[in-house]
Amino acid sequence: MKTIIEPFRIKTVEPIRMTGAEDRERILREADFNLFLVRADDVIIDLLTDSGTGAMSSEQWAGIMRGDESYAGATSFYRFQDRIQELTGFEHVLPTHQGRAAERILFELVGGPGKIVPNNAHFDTTRANIEHSGATPVDLPIEEAADPRGRHPFKGNMDVAGLERLIGEVGRDRIPLVMMTITNNSGGGQPVSLANLRAVREVCTRHRLPMFLDACRFAENAFLIKQREPDQANRAVRDIVHDIFGMADGVTISAKKDGLVNIGGLLLLRDPELLHRASNLLILTEGFITYGGLAGRDLEAMAQGFEEVVHEDYLAYRIRSTEYLGDGLRAAGVPIMEPPGAHAIYIDAAAFASHIPRDQFPGQAVVVGLFRQAGIRTCEIGSVMFGSPPDDKQHRSASTPRPRLELVRLAIPRRVYTQSHIDYVIEAAGELAARRESLRGLRIIDEPPLLRHFTARFEEI
Ligand code: F0G
Repeated sequence: MKTIIEPFRIKTVEPIRMTGAEDRERILREADFNLFLVRADDVIIDLLTDSGTGAMSSEQWAGIMRGDESYAGATSFYRFQDRIQELTGFEHVLPTHQGRAAERILFELVGGPGKIVPNNAHFDTTRANIEHSGATPVDLPIEEAADPRGRHPFKGNMDVAGLERLIGEVGRDRIPLVMMTITNNSGGGQPVSLANLRAVREVCTRHRLPMFLDACRFAENAFLIKQREPDQANRAVRDIVHDIFGMADGVTISAKKDGLVNIGGLLLLRDPELLHRASNLLILTEGFITYGGLAGRDLEAMAQGFEEVVHEDYLAYRIRSTEYLGDGLRAAGVPIMEPPGAHAIYIDAAAFASHIPRDQFPGQAVVVGLFRQAGIRTCEIGSVMFGSPPDDKQHRSASTPRPRLELVRLAIPRRVYTQSHIDYVIEAAGELAARRESLRGLRIIDEPPLLRHFTARFEEI
């Protein structure tokens, strides 16, 4: 059998409101060409993010009813903690309301002026939380990550020699920890290999540096290790997951991705002193240590979600359906970041809209084009997201590099869209490809000092 089917049936449906070309023109103008400012009801297929947008299972909904809402020591917390201990091997589990809350607590404790945090590639909230603490984030992707067409199987890997060099240059005392983002979201959703994680671990051990994971897509990364890394094909994903977490001294996770829930996050720490300080901050800003800003029912949904996500039939479907979108786009003449990753396909907008200069945001032009064409909402990951505001509004440290790629992310919510929805996306992108010269650059007319992509306003040139 060649077709890998969705390993579930659909019990509840959510209607999609169809729009016409005129509606969409009005919607775009009212939102000043920023798709974050468009109402969800005005979107036909929403590929803005895979974060918190997944469908929960009947068992998760059953857990929602079972949720124990006790302030302290809720049964739901212990069920959640048992599940995470079993999955990761970490003894202590701090729940947070989402991933960035775990990041904020961590970097408030270990960040600060003069500190440097290396990562294969920081995601925007991690980068912003590090900068907010006064520290400097440094991205160390491998060279191959900059070539969208190259088919290196683990483009998420860190440049290990680059890490050694950085430690030599700035000194280990300025580096509170080394972070690895699995999968690498800002660099095309590409996985990190076990071999690379081990090599980074070895450097960290030698320099007595803690290694942390930003692990919100750990199960997808583990499945790609099983598919792509030598000698891993016959191993259970759970065992690979164990190997990954076993290497880390600490972990931040947004459960809105591989936790298969709509809200939630966690912070895992081994160091007792750091754990103690993090628990105090958690109580100060999130909630007591057995609920961390969540309801008991949310902890139940996470406990079940973190179980379902390592089911291999689910992961086989998940990875194949993303690859299906990638195959379709490539065949329709749309250049994508190769090879397809796990949670999203990234259009190479610099190639797709090569007539638009980078300072006129080719990625945002493609985002606008896909919405205009078919009501598809996507997200720019390029000069809008990572570029610097003009000097008078500058927040970003001067060391922040210009993004290497201009990408448009088509993120696939988990268990939400069927194959015909994806076929519709492929058709729309193919039609846009046929008249790509009509895409127009944009200029920013208003922007905030940080995380500007969420609220910036544009006009077409
Ligand atoms: N780390 C990574 C790699 C992420 O992709 C995200 C969120 C976070 C941390 C923060 O987690 O949203 O729960 O606070 N990524 C979302 C996205 C927003 O669209 O990729 P959060």
